[in-house]
Amino acid sequence: MLDELNAAKSQAEKDFSAVSSAEEMEKLRVKYLGKKGILREWTQRMGSLSVEERRAAGKGINELKQLVETRLTEGQAALKSRRVEERADVTVPGSRPPLGHFHPVTLMTDRLIAIFRGLGFEVAHGPEVEVERYNFDALNFPPDHPSRDGYDTFYIRDQVLLRSHTSPVQARVMENRKPPLRIVIPGRVYRPDTPDASHSPIFHQLEGLAVDVGIGFRDLKFVLSTAMQELYGADTRTRFRPSFFPFTEPSAEVDVSCMICRGRGCPACGQSGWIELLGAGMVHPNVFRFAGYDPEKYTGFAFGMGIDRIAMQWYGIHDIRLLLENDLRILRQF
Ligand code: PHE
Repeated sequence: MLDELNAAKSQAEKDFSAVSSAEEMEKLRVKYLGKKGILREWTQRMGSLSVEERRAAGKGINELKQLVETRLTEGQAALKSRRVEERADVTVPGSRPPLGHFHPVTLMTDRLIAIFRGLGFEVAHGPEVEVERYNFDALNFPPDHPSRDGYDTFYIRDQVLLRSHTSPVQARVMENRKPPLRIVIPGRVYRPDTPDASHSPIFHQLEGLAVDVGIGFRDLKFVLSTAMQELYGADTRTRFRPSFFPFTEPSAEVDVSCMICRGRGCPACGQSGWIELLGAGMVHPNVFRFAGYDPEKYTGFAFGMGIDRIAMQWYGIHDIRLLLENDLRILRQF
């Protein structure tokens, strides 16, 4: 009887090593473990055995059962991994996860920063929630003066507001550092303008400030005209018109020849051939006094440009609102 059991074990080994499909495996499961299976048969035969025989047979049956169960689990796992291999076509090209990219305003900000870095400027930042002291007082806006109206903004509470330009960062930097200074300040600004194709209550500026001994208006002209040529091409012209800002004297509005028509006149520039891109001027002595700089010793220039407007010119975007609506159909194009 033990011989018979040993024969059954080697038969089982043989059976399982010959399996090549899930169906065959299932047949073997039934053959050994099924209701009328070989193991059941053996268990029934135990009843007719003597006590000694039964002990030896029990051991053999358990061994057979264990062998069958191990081979079954192993075989099933092997079949499963074979199925996965058969299904995976490794020659199919991989799927590319969608990749985002920078917003056109961010792209333009980075380009401008790179240009000014090349001219020796470093980058500084300041808070978007500002206090009147920096948004106005430090910049030589007299209290309650109508010149504040043009920069009226969103108040958080008394004295605390969303900055209406990046110029307050000039004062913050000067308070903490000594000249010479050459900095540009990119950032978001806020004004309660009604949105239309060229106005938005949120937009972006790049501020510039240079302070040293002996800086003159020529330096401002050189830096801005060079930067605009690097931005829009070597044939770009720059035009300075007298203007007023409380924090600069003299002050200028700076126009750049329209890059769409190259100055000939087109709808984008209102047929004038010029686009107004900047406010600029020589830093007012009162701004230096507020910062603790000696206006007899130091001079400097400052400028502020609208980054959104520059991006619109560059990318041919006709409505500033498109830059703020996060419509992917628009943004994917840049
Ligand atoms: N802060 C001004 C504005 O927002 C621009 C400006 C900056 C003008 C620096 C002169 C010097 O309109």
